[in-house]
Amino acid sequence: MQEKPVSGPRFDTLAIHAGATPDPSTGARVTPIYQTTSFVFNDADHAASLFGLEAFGNIYTRIGNPTQSVLEGRVAALEGGTAALAVASGHAAQFLVFHTLLETGDEFVAGRQLYGGSVNQFNHAFKKFNWNVAWADSTDPASFETAITPKTRAIYCESIANPGGIIVDLAAIGAIAKKHNLPLIVDNTMASPYLCRPREFGADIVVHSLTKFMAGHGNSIGGAIVDCGTYDWLGSKHRYKTLVEPNASYNGMKLAETFGNFAFAIACRVMGLRDMGPAIAPMNAFLILNGIETLPLRMQRHCENALAVARHLEQHPAIAWVQYAGLPDNKYHQLHKKICPKGAGAVFTIGLKGGYDAGVKFVQGLKMVSHLANIGDTRSLVIHPASTTHRQLTDEQRKTAGAGNEVVRLSIGLEDKADIIADLDQALAR
Ligand SMILES: Cc1ncc(COP(=O)(O)O)c(C=O)c1O
Repeated sequence: MQEKPVSGPRFDTLAIHAGATPDPSTGARVTPIYQTTSFVFNDADHAASLFGLEAFGNIYTRIGNPTQSVLEGRVAALEGGTAALAVASGHAAQFLVFHTLLETGDEFVAGRQLYGGSVNQFNHAFKKFNWNVAWADSTDPASFETAITPKTRAIYCESIANPGGIIVDLAAIGAIAKKHNLPLIVDNTMASPYLCRPREFGADIVVHSLTKFMAGHGNSIGGAIVDCGTYDWLGSKHRYKTLVEPNASYNGMKLAETFGNFAFAIACRVMGLRDMGPAIAPMNAFLILNGIETLPLRMQRHCENALAVARHLEQHPAIAWVQYAGLPDNKYHQLHKKICPKGAGAVFTIGLKGGYDAGVKFVQGLKMVSHLANIGDTRSLVIHPASTTHRQLTDEQRKTAGAGNEVVRLSIGLEDKADIIADLDQALAR
């Protein structure tokens, strides 16, 4: 088969080079950590033009910084967006997206199969702003349409959804978003752009917890917002005030009119990051950039190891079920071929025949695989939600959240797969 012609560098090249050039003043080949709060203006006119958004440049690290800018260019290129914004965490990215889109009293529809922290953020923290979530079922695209009301301003879902291994039909949800003229926001943390590019299925905005597979080494918290440049803010029947109305803090400038297909990223920076403040530290931006350089290689190995572990566990007598879309008889296998054909990710759940007690014993018995609340590390990780993240819920609530007493979530790392399997086996033998 002939390779499709491409108009620019390919993904693996972008992962290493996009956004970066040798440092103009020193020639440093690796992007330096610009560990500074602020930047000297050339003169008073230069300062005035930066503050008036008439020129792009560095003012203060809460709003932008050269190390962050390289990370932003890299993430935007990998996701196929027009611009990106790097922020302090995945949750900060989500907050700034909704802060930019919503007014008090507005609603958005979200698939309920989300990272638990996002469910909390939407259900509780957002209530304080009177931003209201209507829940849909990520495994049933039609339920998103049913939940839309005249107050709905956006649709939100994950590409590969929690608690692990659910592949979401982004194309179907994207079509519903288009039909109702709503921006589709996709959290692409679990897939990373190596496995899935939500823009190709109709996403207008992509958010990331860079903390996970993008950074890849479990050493830094960070987040990103990608503006796909696809949503027509000016032509929309909905009124996104931050984007279309004269902005009092920028002399009446209208952001969508001035910045066109990257206006959303600008709005998140100049109204969100400037005023709410969750900036990423330059050191973290640097570490995440280094991680992204090996994203393609790591994701290939993550997926290969995850499939081998899932296949092994499927046959294990102590395991009742394995929920991994990479397995041919899994109910999400066909969607995996459509949405993320290069791999089904590395986070999945298993059910232990022994229930709650077996779950606790199993995580305690592991020697190499770490028991902790994270995913997307080089190291293999495990958590038993019922005794940790979901312990405050009733049995019924846990079941609905996909975190029943018997459920264990695995994030398969980059170690030799035989060693991962050996550690899981010795803990299961207990
Ligand atoms: C899918 C997903 N989205 C968002 C987040 C939040 O990211 P952060 O911890 O970087 O704020 C997480 C964290 O686990 C996550 O797994």
